[in-house]
Amino acid sequence: MRALVARSYGPPHTLRIEDVPIPEPGPGQIQVRVSAASLNPADLMMTSGEIREAFETRFPYVPGSDFAGTVTGLGPGVSTFAVGEEVFGFGAPPSYAERFGLPAVTSGGLAEYATFQADGPFVARRPSGLPPETAAALASTGMTAVAAVADGDVRPGERVLVIGATGGVGSIVVQLLARTRAAEVVATAIPEYAGYARALGAAHTIDYLTSDVVAATRELHPDGVDAIVNLVLDGDRLQEAARALRPGGRVVSTTFGSIGGDGATLKVVNGPPSLRADTFPTLAAQALDGTLIDMISRTYPFDRAAEALADLAAAAHTRGKWVVSMRSVPRESYP
Ligand SMILES: NC(=O)c1ccc[n+]([C@@H]2O[C@H](COP(=O)([O-])OP(=O)(O)OC[C@H]3O[C@@H](n4cnc5c(N)ncnc54)[C@H](OP(=O)(O)O)[C@@H]3O)[C@@H](O)[C@H]2O)c1
Repeated sequence: MRALVARSYGPPHTLRIEDVPIPEPGPGQIQVRVSAASLNPADLMMTSGEIREAFETRFPYVPGSDFAGTVTGLGPGVSTFAVGEEVFGFGAPPSYAERFGLPAVTSGGLAEYATFQADGPFVARRPSGLPPETAAALASTGMTAVAAVADGDVRPGERVLVIGATGGVGSIVVQLLARTRAAEVVATAIPEYAGYARALGAAHTIDYLTSDVVAATRELHPDGVDAIVNLVLDGDRLQEAARALRPGGRVVSTTFGSIGGDGATLKVVNGPPSLRADTFPTLAAQALDGTLIDMISRTYPFDRAAEALADLAAAAHTRGKWVVSMRSVPRESYP
């Protein structure tokens, strides 16, 4: 089979599509013929070596954590899925899965075939009617967004600033806050993506490049917002952003940092460990019923997967999700 392979740490253009053996499913695993895989910043971090101190990459390495595909084989002990079923979900690189004790290891989704662990909540059936590309875009962003929204404990009518609102995780966070929690969302978005942020359900947008986000938020809400969902800032920049909170407000963050002051609380979320069995089926249902709009902004064919990662690494800004599809992809879907 063909797979996108990294042989050592390096920039994305050093990855090559190679012929490698089809991975066989181990205990609790399924083998999947991949239909689509979405890209995450973590794919770049694992192949560049940027996070090698925390998560070493074992070579040869096939990136790709979020996938949709067809079950083609069952490992020992798998009874939840059958060959031929359409599935989607998430698989982590081995060092990540081991570190967190996650039943979610994958051989790598940017390949014609891949193995994923099926004895946990990380693989779900893909409903017919939900395109594989859309399903692949929902997985790790969705689980992180669901965890962030749950930890934020946002009540109807509360005002929430989302920092990083038009990226992969932020796109789902904004929609869940606006549509399932009836929150009033203030979203950071560059002007080019302001319309997209409103389509996600944001009531207001702030251009983080040219404005002071705290001042602009306080202009909208002089007493401060009830909560902040931060997907970007860390260290002092998070501390600074927390000045947009009302006294006693909450910050939910995917980054580490501190906020201090006024009895405000900070929760650091990490999607995978808190994934529940109903998270992916619920996200799929929400994508089908229109609660979640399609957030794919680019689709690449598989033979351009290295180029897709290189473009992602070089992009000044990205909106929603980028996906690699095994189907033929119209030229206008990628640059
Ligand atoms: N992807 C996942 O599933 C996942 C899972 C666990 C944790 N996380 C973490 O969650 C965070 C977001 O991941 P992601 O996949 O959503 O990344 P992403 O798609 O790259 O989105 C990041 C967003 O942040 C915006 N941004 C950059 N600098 C900003 C600033 N100074 N102020 C406000 N917004 C800014 C970007 O906007 P522009 O592009 O318009 O500049 C972009 O919309 C990361 O910390 C990641 O490590 C992600």
